[in-house]
Amino acid sequence: MIRAGILGTGSALPQRVLTNADLEQMVDTNDEWIVTRTGIRERRIAEPGETTSDYAVAACQQALTRAGVEAAAVDMVICATVTPDMVFPATACLVQDRIGAVNAGAFDLSAACTGFLYGLACAAAMVQAGLNRYVLVCAADLLSRITDYEDRKTCVLFGDGAGAVLVGPVSEGRGFLSFDLGSDGSGGHFLYLPAGGSKMPASLETISNRQHYLKMEGQETFKFAVKAMASSTERVLETAGLTKDDIDLLVPHQANIRIIDAARKRFGLDEDKVAVTIHKYGNTSASSIPIALDEAVQEGRVGSGDVVVMVGFGGGLTWGAAAVRL
Ligand code: UT7
Repeated sequence: MIRAGILGTGSALPQRVLTNADLEQMVDTNDEWIVTRTGIRERRIAEPGETTSDYAVAACQQALTRAGVEAAAVDMVICATVTPDMVFPATACLVQDRIGAVNAGAFDLSAACTGFLYGLACAAAMVQAGLNRYVLVCAADLLSRITDYEDRKTCVLFGDGAGAVLVGPVSEGRGFLSFDLGSDGSGGHFLYLPAGGSKMPASLETISNRQHYLKMEGQETFKFAVKAMASSTERVLETAGLTKDDIDLLVPHQANIRIIDAARKRFGLDEDKVAVTIHKYGNTSASSIPIALDEAVQEGRVGSGDVVVMVGFGGGLTWGAAAVRL
């Protein structure tokens, strides 16, 4: 079987910074509450008129450049997003066109914050099966577009951004070691966007009821997240035949520093073995893992031969983990 691995990483973030002090002017909140309860100090927000695909394109171009692979060689573009430019066509098709991946298929994937890990598993399977040689996986979300800036329980958490990796064949001893993907749809109502789908099409009423904004039961999501991060990491290690001591870097979904710390302590990892970006970017949905991975690679925290475990959870409810030797 062909071995699949990560050939290059990229990321893109808006320049505009929304600080906790800014949010204090918008809702009844304060810097101390946000920092102690979430670990977030600031997040990045796209300008009006910018789109999810703008950031996905930039992240994909970086990943291709760093992998040294031409866009024309890409066979498939997968975009994980819950804030596509439009309901259709798929944002992946817009990205495929704009980067010049003229020989690629393209599709979007909806698994909320776990979407990048689902995309990675699809890409690995496609490459390993010999169906495709190069698969570009991007995760991109402008959560600011579906965030209710009158709801202090959610608006302090989210930010915008995109990350991407190029998946392709790698030499023996490198590449993906295992995946774990799961879903519990009975918890779908803990984190969802009510209107705009077939159940509740857009109307004047849905707009006036603020139903085009994300709704979340924070505590329920928190409890689920702590359990899912631990169990999914355990399963992915076990399947790969690894132990926690083999982890060179854990790259968790960046939703709350307390969730990340719970995972870190659960596996007895030192702080330098866990990638954290939440203080500066907040929760950027599916893109949080590839953004944190890209930063770790660019900073030289991980490189060729290192074992990286990525783990996340999100709306669906969904969860997932991946172990890879870079
Ligand atoms: O990727 C998406 C997945 N989403 C998540 O992972 C989110 C998981 N959940 C969490 O991270 C946490 O539950 C939150 C950060 C959302 C909330 O933290 P919490 O410690 O669970 O707070 P809480 O919801 O229990 O609220 C505690 C208090 C409440 O006031 P009362 O009822 O005790 O008087 C809230 O109204 O904090 C209040 N509160 C706030 N106060 C100041 C809630 N949001 C804020 C706020 N500023 N922004």
